[in-house]
Amino acid sequence: MKLLVIGSGAREHALAWRLARDGSVGEVVCAPGNAGIEQCARVTPVEAGDPEAVLALAEREAADLTVVGPEVPLTRGVADRFAAAGRLLLGPTRLAAELESSKAFAKQFMARHGVPTARCQICESPEVALAVLATRQFGYPVVIKADGLAAGKGVVVATDQLNASVAIRAMMVDRRFGDAGARIVIEEFMEGQEASVFALTDGRRAVLLPTAQDHKRAFDNDQGPNTGGMGAFAPSPLVDDAMLDRVRDTIVMPVIEGMRAEGREFRGFLYAGLMLTADGPKVVEFNVRMGDPEAQVVLPMIDGELAPLLRDAAAGRLGQDTCRVREWPRVGVVIASAGYPDKYETGKPISGLGAAASVPGVVVFHAGTARRGNDIVTAGGRVLTVVGEGQDYRQAVSRAYEGARRIAFDGAFMRKDIGQKAIRAAHG
Ligand code: AMP
Ligand code: GLY
Repeated sequence: MKLLVIGSGAREHALAWRLARDGSVGEVVCAPGNAGIEQCARVTPVEAGDPEAVLALAEREAADLTVVGPEVPLTRGVADRFAAAGRLLLGPTRLAAELESSKAFAKQFMARHGVPTARCQICESPEVALAVLATRQFGYPVVIKADGLAAGKGVVVATDQLNASVAIRAMMVDRRFGDAGARIVIEEFMEGQEASVFALTDGRRAVLLPTAQDHKRAFDNDQGPNTGGMGAFAPSPLVDDAMLDRVRDTIVMPVIEGMRAEGREFRGFLYAGLMLTADGPKVVEFNVRMGDPEAQVVLPMIDGELAPLLRDAAAGRLGQDTCRVREWPRVGVVIASAGYPDKYETGKPISGLGAAASVPGVVVFHAGTARRGNDIVTAGGRVLTVVGEGQDYRQAVSRAYEGARRIAFDGAFMRKDIGQKAIRAAHG
């Protein structure tokens, strides 16, 4: 099989790396890729956000299956274009991708199908939003969300009415996130711990993948601004088999069946971000793709052949609802550029990549990196994810950090507490 992976982050590096290990995979091509992906795939340029360009590349390469990493090509209809051209792609259509691209759609959809989530009001104007706030029906803290895609920044947890109204004005009047803030969702704050569940679905059946937990804040002890994710571990010790069965029955399958019933059949990776509340697991958000950095810890845990599973999901003929999973947990530490998630510099030479990769049980996935002569230099906010495996979370954490500490570049920073939550939950 010849696979084409679309994207250029550490998630796509993990996808390409994992697929290249399959016996059934002859070649992996990744577009546009990055400097690290060259080690496991052939890298070629593409305008990833342009469905026509992605389709033309898949045809030129005669790819048997195209796997899309990020959400933007999906929300622009790349799956619809491939379907019309009769070419196989794993990922939801534009309408199915609204589960991620419109929080209002996702909330109304969950209400229609009885999927547990926070109570909410969808507001189409700042006047309505401020009026909803004035009723105090959600109490405080309250959560204010821009409807559309805002690169993980469109959510504000407001502790009082002043902060909530400032957030509403920033989104709806000042349009801080552009059209993404034309509508907002005001929702009840849920208490609990967060975990993420991933399903690979063909539109009818689902294979549940290992669960994970992200570390969204920039600094230790969950302080600082929200980021795309500063580290992750898999599996989540908070989700045991009974909880996973409950998530399958009350969330994953009702979503898959509901989407099909509404003419929005969902094929691809369905990512459910959950709050584990006293009343059971509830949905915080959906993504229509694997997470980043979650993919870097989840995909290496999948045992057996992955490519045929992805192909069968894309083709609507999954023949199984489980996959083999490795026992050892994985912990992934993101090394970022100083200033991320705001302004940061690029073009800094990176040292120690080989030394990090030589630590037993460590793999280094590249995100924002580029080649400059003989050097590998930084090219983004999140630069690398260093993943360690171990017989328990402690060993996985210590290996990931042993690898990460060997890497250096001007302005490098990472959280020092990735995986501590897993150690506390699992070992007390
Ligand atoms: P989202 O982009 O929807 O995943 O939201 C970003 C983060 O905001 C989540 O990971 C949660 O930590 C927090 N969050 C979102 N919605 C809620 C809610 N209803 N209650 C509590 N925390 C929330
Ligand atoms: N790490 C969260 C995401 O990929 O959306």
